[in-house]
Amino acid sequence: MLTIRYEKTTSPKPLPTPENPLTFGTIFTDHMFIMDYEEGKGWYDPRVVPYAPVTLEPSAMVFHYGQEMFEGLKAYKTEDGRTLLFRPDENAKRAYKTNERLCIPTIPVEDFLQAIQAVVKVDEAWIPTKPGTSLYIRPFIIATDPFLGVRPSYTYKFMIILSPVGAYYPEGLNPVKIWIEDEYVRAVRGGLGEVKAGANYVASLKAQVKAHEEGYSQVLWLDGVERKYIEEVGAMNIFFKIDGKVVTPVLTGSILPGVTRKSCIELCKDWGYPVEERRISADELFEAAQNGSLEEVWGTGTAAVVSPVGHLRKGEQVLQIGDGGIGPVSQKLYDTITGIQLGKLEGPEGWVVEVV
Ligand code: COI
Repeated sequence: MLTIRYEKTTSPKPLPTPENPLTFGTIFTDHMFIMDYEEGKGWYDPRVVPYAPVTLEPSAMVFHYGQEMFEGLKAYKTEDGRTLLFRPDENAKRAYKTNERLCIPTIPVEDFLQAIQAVVKVDEAWIPTKPGTSLYIRPFIIATDPFLGVRPSYTYKFMIILSPVGAYYPEGLNPVKIWIEDEYVRAVRGGLGEVKAGANYVASLKAQVKAHEEGYSQVLWLDGVERKYIEEVGAMNIFFKIDGKVVTPVLTGSILPGVTRKSCIELCKDWGYPVEERRISADELFEAAQNGSLEEVWGTGTAAVVSPVGHLRKGEQVLQIGDGGIGPVSQKLYDTITGIQLGKLEGPEGWVVEVV
C-alpha cells in the first residue's frame, strides 16, 4: 500500500469543450503521478503533482539505450456519474512482466492499481462523455541513471499521465487498408515483442511510413523467422472470421498479449463461436478469401477497441474483405466491450473496476 502525497495545481487548465472533437493523445490533464526508484531504497515518494515537464540529465540512460516500458488503459464516466476502469489488473500484471523482461524493478500489482486510482480520481472531471471518447491512461517507466555504460539503470521514474481522447484512427469504425509487410519485422521470439516496450513501437515506424506512402493506414506484421505467419496489425492484435470460426494468432512469444484480445476471445467463446488460437499464414488468408470463407478481419487494442480491416495488400496481391462496412462480429464486439466499459452492459465478473 502506497502512502501517496498530493500537490494540487494552482492554475487548472480549461477542460476541453465538447464542441471540439477530441483526437488521440494531444491534450493532457492537470495532474500526473510520479514515483522514484533508487537501488537499495526501492520505489519511494509516490505523489500526485501538477502536470509539468520533467528535468533529466542528458546522460540519462533512457535516452541512449531505451530502457523504457509503458502501459495503456482507459477510464470511462457512466451515465450515473461513476468512473470505471476496464480490466486494470490485466495492465498491472502485464506491466510486472514487462519490467521483469526489461530489467526494470517491478511494481506490486496493488501499488500499480492504487497509483492509477489516485491520479484518475484527482482529474476525474477531465473524463469526456461523448460517444467514442474516454480518458486514456498512460503509465510508463524510464531509466534515469546519468551513465553511458550498457547495464540496467539503478534509478527510475514511474509516471502516469492522462489524456482525454477520441478515436485513435481517423477512420473510426470504418474499415482500414492494410499493407502486409514482408521486408521489415516488428519482433522476434525471445525479443521484446510480447512486452510493452517503447522499442517495439520504434521498430514499427519504418514500415508504417512505407505503408502510408503507398496509401495504406497500417501494417500487417509477419513472423520474423519464416515471414509467413501473421502476428499483429499496426499496434494491435488481429482476428479473422473464417468459415464461422474466430481465428487469432497464438501467442508465440513475439506477440503482445492484448487486454482487448483476451476480452474478444472470452466474449466470442461465450457467444458460442469456435475460437482458434493458432498460427495462420498470409497464404491461408488469401486462400480463404479466394474460396469465399474469409468473412471478417479486425484489429483489437485499447486505443481503438476494434478496428475493422477492409483491404489487404501483399506485393501485387490485393484482397477486398466484406462489403466496405464493419462486419457483424466486429460490430458486436465493439458494442459489447464499449457497453461494458461505460457501465451500460453487465460484463463478466471483475471486468470493470470503479475509481473511488
Ligand atoms: C493500443 O492501445 O491499441 C496500442 O497499443 C496503441 C498505443 C500504442 C497508442
